[in-house]
Amino acid sequence: MTTVGLDVGTSGLKGIALGDDGSVLARAERGYGFDTPRPGWAEQDPALWWDAAEAVLAELGAAGKPAGIGLSGQMHGLVALDSADEVLRPAILWNDQRTAAECAEIEERIGLSELIARTGNRALTGFTAPKLLWMRRHEPELYGRIASMLLPKDYVRLRLTGERAIDVADASGTLLFDVARRCWSDEVVEALELDPAWLPRSLESPEVSGRTAAGVPVAAGAGDQAAGALGVGVDRPGPASVVLGTSGVVFVALDEFAADPEARVHSFCHAVPGAWHAMGVMLSAAGSLRWLRDVAAPGEDFGTLVAEAEAWPPGAEGLTFLPYLSGERTPHADPDARGSFTGLSLRHDRGALVRAVLEGVAYGLRDSLDLLIEMGAVPTAGRVSGGGARSDLWLQIVASVLELPLERTAVDEGAAFGAALLGGVAGGVWADVGEAVAAAQGTTGVVEPVEEWVEPYRAGRERFRALYPALRDV
Ligand code: XUL
Repeated sequence: MTTVGLDVGTSGLKGIALGDDGSVLARAERGYGFDTPRPGWAEQDPALWWDAAEAVLAELGAAGKPAGIGLSGQMHGLVALDSADEVLRPAILWNDQRTAAECAEIEERIGLSELIARTGNRALTGFTAPKLLWMRRHEPELYGRIASMLLPKDYVRLRLTGERAIDVADASGTLLFDVARRCWSDEVVEALELDPAWLPRSLESPEVSGRTAAGVPVAAGAGDQAAGALGVGVDRPGPASVVLGTSGVVFVALDEFAADPEARVHSFCHAVPGAWHAMGVMLSAAGSLRWLRDVAAPGEDFGTLVAEAEAWPPGAEGLTFLPYLSGERTPHADPDARGSFTGLSLRHDRGALVRAVLEGVAYGLRDSLDLLIEMGAVPTAGRVSGGGARSDLWLQIVASVLELPLERTAVDEGAAFGAALLGGVAGGVWADVGEAVAAAQGTTGVVEPVEEWVEPYRAGRERFRALYPALRDV
């Protein structure tokens, strides 16, 4: 029996088909772009997702009719629909920064500590609720026609099954969800004067949300971080999921709901019934390296750049990079934060800039890890994924900065893999999420911290941490 996972990403839609031993039978992918009609904005036409989903499902169809399908996708995006289920405007995405005023309004209306108590989180520009308030203020005519709202992967579900549903993990990123009680927060919805009738039915991730026209059950699924964590085997406390994608994430599973008192990390429901997770999210991780490549070495191979960085000692002779190129979420919830290089000297060359970027991202991940440890998490190792995890040097740097061994997994398919595991549970291939995760292939190798780098990186971290407060006001 096969099971299929779809990940509705920001730059494309990825699908995989798995056998019941968790092995990958087929892969398919369709790329698409997003628009930035104004600085800081990020929008996408939901039709792109559906067209890509149809094409990917058709291509995977060659592997036979699946027992189940699981959905995953970019989180937090707002898809506003009218009463005929027509899309009212392009979706406003997770990386859109237009809602600073609405975030301030939400925290003022509800009170920051009350908001954290109700939702586990503070109002961040990328989250969904501030986007609805933005529409109310700036597009009142369209706002008046809203009949329902969905997140990106749930729009694909609507087209696939006709059902309006969401999973608890993705719903956690809307700021309208009572994460501790795993249901919509009537109080927050009311305080923000939103219509509760707009909200889709919320389900646990492996539950069946509906069926395709051919009768295939579709699991509720999960946001890409929770699904990706399942994909690397992080379904319960133990190793942390460490993602070096465009954004960078340190993610731990929790047996009980817990929130940082200042919500510097996000507390969300996990894709495992009865479990939660906390994560720190940095907005530009491998995205920082891509930026440096594109501006300083267009077209250059990442391997060449990383080889140049290898020639530099840890700490790059005092050169420090702040990776806040698109603002930041963890630990500084600040859409106006900006990146910087400090400590440049005549000796520094291109390789030193690259080394500083790899290290600056690692320090940012350590900021998240420390907050998770403060909340009581005791990660034993990191399970890595994302494009940056292909670099041995970067993993050595991250392991030495986090002071944790980093494990690679056999299947590096990220959120689509986790989605397929959830689809398999919905389709009866596996009894529950734990069994599905256990069926997936294990780890293939470990990158240990480099002993003589640990001390230099402790010093580098001090320098890194002093810079944001020092530079913020300039
Ligand atoms: C998580 C987040 C990103 C997006 C990117 O909070 O914003 O992981 O889901 O796909």
